Amino acid sequence: MGETLLTHDVPSEHAPWALVTGASSGIGAEFCRQLAKLGYRLVLVARREDRLRELAGELRTAQTGEPLVLPEDLSDPGSCARIEHALSASGVAVDFLVNNAGYGVPGTLVDVSWERHDDFLQVMVNAVCELTWRLMPGMLERGHGHIINVASVAGMAPSSAGHTLYGASKAFLVKFSESLAEEGAPRGVRVSALCPGFTYSEFHDVTGTRDRVSQLPKALWLQADEVVSYGIESVLRERPRVVAVPGRLYRLLVWLFGAFPALGRRLAARNAHKYRDTD
Ligand SMILES: NC(=O)c1ccc[n+]([C@@H]2O[C@H](COP(=O)([O-])OP(=O)(O)OC[C@H]3O[C@@H](n4cnc5c(N)ncnc54)[C@H](OP(=O)(O)O)[C@@H]3O)[C@@H](O)[C@H]2O)c1
Repeated sequence: MGETLLTHDVPSEHAPWALVTGASSGIGAEFCRQLAKLGYRLVLVARREDRLRELAGELRTAQTGEPLVLPEDLSDPGSCARIEHALSASGVAVDFLVNNAGYGVPGTLVDVSWERHDDFLQVMVNAVCELTWRLMPGMLERGHGHIINVASVAGMAPSSAGHTLYGASKAFLVKFSESLAEEGAPRGVRVSALCPGFTYSEFHDVTGTRDRVSQLPKALWLQADEVVSYGIESVLRERPRVVAVPGRLYRLLVWLFGAFPALGRRLAARNAHKYRDTD
């Protein structure tokens, strides 16, 4: 576990359900493992069904039963409605939603096809809002629930050229989570935007930047388990962290970017080529 200890325990006879998008690898798979340990039954969403079934086998216990596997491509505008339908058909009421699925698109805005940008915005922005819109009313009615939107330090740091919509989509998630936290709090629904920095997962292999980012100092890298335990603790603690940044170094960097924005922009412009395609 990372820098915080979890103290929350869920009674097994009424084990609530958690739904995690992007459950097939990295941070999402780790969310599933940690939520299962807390006694949640899992709904696993991503495209790679074989990976989801393998994880479901690993997580199945007498206490939490068989996870529900929902293979879906969130870039399909019909996917969130299908997920809601599958949940009601199985009698599943989701109490803990983790909007985690995500990836990056290398290149500048105009060098990438609109179809690719459109799919990206569908996964990173629309699906997050729509799934929340579909599942949050049940939480409000029941008077309790938890929502974690996996954003990024990129949503709070100055943006640079390349991967143009990534930082913008994560900044959107931070602002979205802030409003949602205010709307949910009076009715028992807690919301956090989890904002990790560089984290070991498959993210940079998918984006094609592994060679570049492996040159970055070790101190900048987080383990998925510390990111996830910080995120879960942030939304379960008595006063939730609405914007949760795992790791002291990243909290310091975010503070510096806020205090000295012009310096931050200069640093980002000068160093972005070390971790992304800037042209
Ligand atoms: N790793 C980092 O340095 C870092 C830093 C800050 C924030 N984040 C954020 O953390 C989240 C998780 O990323 P990760 O680091 O764990 O990367 P990862 O190992 O590549 O996992 C990404 C997950 O998203 C799913 N996904 C991607 N496109 C999808 C689609 N169209 N429909 C459904 N699921 C889709 C993938 O599943 P399938 O391919 O099976 O669909 C996979 O399970 C992302 O939102 C990312 O932006 C990562």
